Amino acid sequence: MSDHDHHRNHDHGHGHASDQGVKAMFRYLRWAPQLWRSDINDAVVDLVGPVEGETVLDIGAGLGAGAFRAARAGASVVAVEPTPFLRRLLVIRRIFERERQRITVADGSAEHLPADSQTIDALWAVNTMHHWIDADAAALEMKRVLVPGGRVALVDEDFENPEHPEHERFGANADDHEHHGFTKVDVEQMGDRLRRVGLVDVVASERQLAGRPVIAITARAAAGR
Ligand SMILES: C[S@@+](CC[C@H](N)C(=O)[O-])C[C@H]1O[C@@H](n2cnc3c(N)ncnc32)[C@H](O)[C@@H]1O
Repeated sequence: MSDHDHHRNHDHGHGHASDQGVKAMFRYLRWAPQLWRSDINDAVVDLVGPVEGETVLDIGAGLGAGAFRAARAGASVVAVEPTPFLRRLLVIRRIFERERQRITVADGSAEHLPADSQTIDALWAVNTMHHWIDADAAALEMKRVLVPGGRVALVDEDFENPEHPEHERFGANADDHEHHGFTKVDVEQMGDRLRRVGLVDVVASERQLAGRPVIAITARAAAGR
C-alpha cells in the first residue's frame, strides 16, 4: 500500500468542530468572495513560485483562490480540503476551470496530507493555520511530503492588528456572529516546529503581505536528504 493509500484509508480525524454543520456552511458562504480570489492568496502563491512541471499542495484550499492561481502558472495542484461542503464547491469550480486537468481536489488536512512521501515541490496554507488541531503533526507531514529543496509558505492574516483593513470585522473583539474564530498563531512557535522536524531556512515573522499585516513562515526541505 502506498503512503497515499495509507492516508486515504485513515480516518482523517480532521475538522475543527467550528467547520462542521449548517452554521459553518453559512459562515463560509459569507466569506465566499474572498475564498474565490484574494490578493493574499495571489501574494502567497507568488512567494512560493510554482512553475510548470511541479506538483504543489494548497493546504486548506477553501474555494481554491490559491490552487487555481498555481494551476494557471502551470503547476499540478492538489487542493487539500477537509470540509466536505467546501470540497464539493471546489469540485464544481474545477469543472469550469480551463486548467482543470492540473487540479486535483482531495480530502485531507494539514495533519494528514494526501500525498506520497517526497513527491511535493512546494506547499502553502493561507488563513488556515489557526484551524489546525495538531500543528506538530502538520509539521511532520509537510516534511514527509516535500522533495529535497521543496518550499513552504504558511500565512495567516493578522486580523487582531488594528491596521488590518478587516480588523473590525474579524478581530478578537468582533461581533460573535461575524467572528470567524481567528486565534492568532504564535509565529515563533510555528517556526520552531518546522525547525524541529528538520526543515531549513526557516523565517518566521510578522510582516506585511498584499498590504495586510500577516504572520508568515517560510522554509525549505533540506537539499539532498
Ligand atoms: C478561512 S478558510 C481559508 C481558505 C483558503 N486557504 C483561502 O485562503 O481562501 C480556512 C480553511 O481551512 C480549512 N481547514 C480547517 N481545518 C483544517 C486542517 N486541520 N487542515 C487544513 N485545513 C483546514 C477549512 O476547511 C477552510 O477551507
